[in-house]
Amino acid sequence: MKFLIINGPNLNLLGKRDTTIYGSDSLQDINDYISQQFKNDEFDFYQSNHEGDIIDKIQQAGENYSGIVINPGAYAHYSYAIHDALETCVIPVIEVHLSNIYEREKFRHVSVTAPACSGIITGEGKQGYIKAIEKIKDVYAT
Ligand code: DQA
Repeated sequence: MKFLIINGPNLNLLGKRDTTIYGSDSLQDINDYISQQFKNDEFDFYQSNHEGDIIDKIQQAGENYSGIVINPGAYAHYSYAIHDALETCVIPVIEVHLSNIYEREKFRHVSVTAPACSGIITGEGKQGYIKAIEKIKDVYAT
């Protein structure tokens, strides 16, 4: 199976940014970890700090993947444009957050993008990406 993994703004700074919240792994470390866990699957890894670029990527995904895993970063809390792009997806999408957004500042408690996804996994660190991929595999297996 082939998956598209999208990471939004500031996630390129993982490993340097708020390590007490996000841990010491860089985004490259996390992407390598994902590839190692699913050696028989293919991955396209994409990170952008720009809303429109993320929307373009979602639109271009079409049916080229078995599913998308997206960590929209702070866009999760206010990007109706990314919500709408996700809503048009014909493949399963799972939203992931490394930290538990429900236990942080109030502005993070709501994800406006999650309702356009098949599910959300929050607060499980890099394992969240693994669980999201497993979840998509399950959806396809049934
Ligand atoms: C995040 C949580 C968001 O609130 C924050 O803006 C991020 C990272 C996470 O992975 O925990 O950039 O999506």
